[in-house]
Amino acid sequence: MDRPYARVPLGRGRAVELWCEEAVAGLGRRVAAGTADVVVTSPPYNRGVPYRSYEDRRPRAQYLDWIGTVAAAVDGVLAPDGSFFLNVGGSPTDPWLPFDVARRVGERFVLQNVIHWVKSIAIDRASAGRAAALERDLALGHYKPLVSARYLHGAHEYVFHFSRRGDVRLDRLAIGVPYQDPSNVRRWRTGAAGRRCRGNTWFLPYSTIRVRARDRPHPATFPPELPEWCLRLHGLSRIRRAVDPFVGIGASAVAAVRCDVDFVGFDLDPEYLRVAAERARAERSTTSRRRRSSAPTTRASASA
Ligand SMILES: C[S@@+](CC[C@H](N)C(=O)[O-])C[C@H]1O[C@@H](n2cnc3c(N)ncnc32)[C@H](O)[C@@H]1O
Repeated sequence: MDRPYARVPLGRGRAVELWCEEAVAGLGRRVAAGTADVVVTSPPYNRGVPYRSYEDRRPRAQYLDWIGTVAAAVDGVLAPDGSFFLNVGGSPTDPWLPFDVARRVGERFVLQNVIHWVKSIAIDRASAGRAAALERDLALGHYKPLVSARYLHGAHEYVFHFSRRGDVRLDRLAIGVPYQDPSNVRRWRTGAAGRRCRGNTWFLPYSTIRVRARDRPHPATFPPELPEWCLRLHGLSRIRRAVDPFVGIGASAVAAVRCDVDFVGFDLDPEYLRVAAERARAERSTTSRRRRSSAPTTRASASA
């Protein structure tokens, strides 16, 4: 097959390309060596998730060997100063899984950052402090409820940030947060913009949906903001191309559209790719409308 399943042009030669192809083979065939500045992805976790076509259960050793093969394929395409963001979640009964995966990938790459994707969090009013002016304790986001006397609800996953030498320069303030206490700003040289590094805990809840089959027709997604923050953190001006070898219903494709970044994604399942293409197109319309409405009014358009 020599045509992508879908191609969504973004302008200036950039596009979102979605290939219905096995990831390792696709990376080798479709992405030239050293041209992916960011790889951001979430592989199957081998936890028996009911995907439409992929069988998500095999012996652990076999699965980890396959992860090693995926890492080798990423090694083949990642740029010398590239970032490889790998999202993996454990489960209460299998808490080692993310670490086993990270260890295997770490045989080829340096683990530069460990990011905690927090899906749900409770914030007590007292610990938020007076500046937050909370009226009550908060419990935010969605989690998978678990009936157990032994285990806590799983409310986070990992995003392992790998690079070749552990020294990729990041644009930390691109996803920075305002200082809570402005008097601190003067104390820190980097505080000039009134913003500080967000740190490695990222609270990104799933949006609330009503009908799963219609609103999120995939059993294991991340929200588009997750890959979006990874792209921005790497630094948009240094991204010629981003890649997601396991693109699912296209959260990372949506992020690429928002960030105006050339993108290639792979998945085995054409139905997931159909949804991914639809979401990328919808995001392109939203993003270009937003850009048009925030563009400064020119003399010609003002007098028209
Ligand atoms: C964890 S999901 C990714 C979901 C995606 N991040 C999203 O938000 O929609 C993993 C995806 O990998 C796909 N997949 C499994 N094995 C694959 C392979 N060898 N090559 C390409 N895609 C594969 C599955 O169909 C599934 O959609």
